[in-house]
Parts: sequence; structure tokens; C-alpha cells
Amino acid sequence: MHRLSKRSALVIGCASGIGASVARLFAREGADVALADSGRAAETASLQEAIIAEGGRAASFEVDVRDEAAVAAAIEGVIATFGKLDILVNNAGVSGGFAPFATQNPADWQGVLDVNLNGVAYGMRHALPHMLSRSHGRIINTASQLAHKPAPNNAMYCASKAAVVALTASVAMEVAASGVAVNAVCPGPTDTAMWRAADPEWNAWKISTLPIKRVGTVEEIAWAYVFLASDEASYMVGQSVSPNGGDVMW
Ligand code: NAI
Repeated sequence: MHRLSKRSALVIGCASGIGASVARLFAREGADVALADSGRAAETASLQEAIIAEGGRAASFEVDVRDEAAVAAAIEGVIATFGKLDILVNNAGVSGGFAPFATQNPADWQGVLDVNLNGVAYGMRHALPHMLSRSHGRIINTASQLAHKPAPNNAMYCASKAAVVALTASVAMEVAASGVAVNAVCPGPTDTAMWRAADPEWNAWKISTLPIKRVGTVEEIAWAYVFLASDEASYMVGQSVSPNGGDVMW
């Protein structure tokens, strides 16, 4: 069964990790998939080729989510290429590093917010007019389980992801009755470049606190996006869907 046939999707932040897996699964489920990332043309091109080789339809765009005009141009580009935009995934994210809050560099703070929060806001701002005009759309924002259960030495990241959850819920309330569903995925620890680049001691501690006692795979996270993008998720509004190994259970 192809859950996303006749749908067109844009996945921003898809050169690796969770976003790449989401893009592949969306294509396997029948969606036309636009790939967007920043400064990772080779990886994005190789993902595009892989999707096309499997019989899918894919396009790619260079987008730095800190640049609102670039985000807007990509959304216009997807609509021009595929004729419409049904599904937007705002997945670009950076970790910001691990340090006690008081010692963190204010420039790093701004850098994390620029990508993790502003990038999501830009994506929604420029996709919504098109989706509202069609009375149809799905927006899926990547937050984190750290939005719901913050951790020490990672305050900037936790705050940015909690803001994504609040932004998601607030916008979801505004547009739900107009046919556009806005939800968030809050992954737990997931085996990606971001996870592997983190402090090994922090990672070991985090896994020790998980009921499942292991890190998740990207596919275990990506299916939550397929669900939220599908017709089966038509009653999901402003939710935090949390594939997280049991770290947060509400
Ligand atoms: P990743 O590093 O493989 O993916 C992050 C993606 O965002 C990359 O493709 C990167 O190039 C892109 N990106 C970063 N800055 C960008 C910018 N300015 N403009 C456009 N694209 C940009 O790592 P991962 O883990 O797959 O991260 C994906 C999302 O999942 C992020 O939002 C991250 O915060 C979130 N997340 C990850 C968890 C984990 O344990 N790996 C847990 C919870 C959330």
C-alpha cells in the first residue's frame, strides 16, 4: 500500500540521519519528494539518485534555513516543480554542543535558535499560504524528547526544541479547521551523525536512563513522519509524537 501516493513533500534537512530516512520512506510510500539541505550537495544528489533509481520522483534545493528568502524560494520551487506542496517536514537541526549553561557562548545560543527555531518558523510561514489556499496540508516539525524532558549541559538545544513544540501547537490551533494539520515529532536518542558527535559520556548516561536501554535507528523514527503525513493521521492536531525508547511517556 502506498500511503502517500499523489502527494508532494519537501523535507528540509535531509542530507543525512532522520531526514534522509524520512525522504526515502516518503518516496517508497509514493510521494514526490523535494530534498533540501545546506552545503551538502553531494549527499543530497546521491539521495535524489537513490530515490529515482527505486522508481520515485525527486528534486533537490540548496537551502540554509537561517535564510528566510532561501526557504521561501525552495517552497516556491517545489510548487513549480511538482505543482503543489502537500507535506512539509522542517527537520534541519544543530546540537549546539554540551557545556554548563553559564559558560555557553551567546553566539552559539543565537546559532542554535537560528536553525532549530527560526528555520521551522520560516518553513511554516511560507508553506501555509499555499496549503491554506488548497484547504489541505501537513506540516511536521522535528523537535526532540529533550523538549519534554530537558537534560543538563544542553540547555540551548532543549530550549530551542521546547519552543518548536509550543510553536507547533500554537500554529496547529490556528489552521486545523482550515484543513492543515501541524504536528511535531519528538525523537529520543537516535543513531545519527548528530548523536555520534555528541559527548560520549553524556550519550552513555542518556542510554542508561532509557527503559529500552539502546539508541534508536533512523527508520524507527521516520515511520512517525510517514504516519503524520498520511491520511490515517487526519485527527492528529498539534501533537508531539514521541518515538523515544520510553524516555518520556506522555
Ligand atoms: P543530522 O546531523 O544527520 O541531520 C541534521 C540535518 O540538518 C543535516 O542534514 C544537516 O545538514 C541539516 N542542517 C543543519 N543546519 C542546517 C541549515 N542551517 N540549513 C539547512 N539544513 C541544515 O542529525 P539528525 O540526528 O538526523 O537530526 C535531524 C533532526 O532530528 C534535528 O532537528 C535534530 O535536532 C533532531 N533530533 C535528533 C536526535 C538524535 O538523537 N539524533 C534526537 C532528537 C531530535
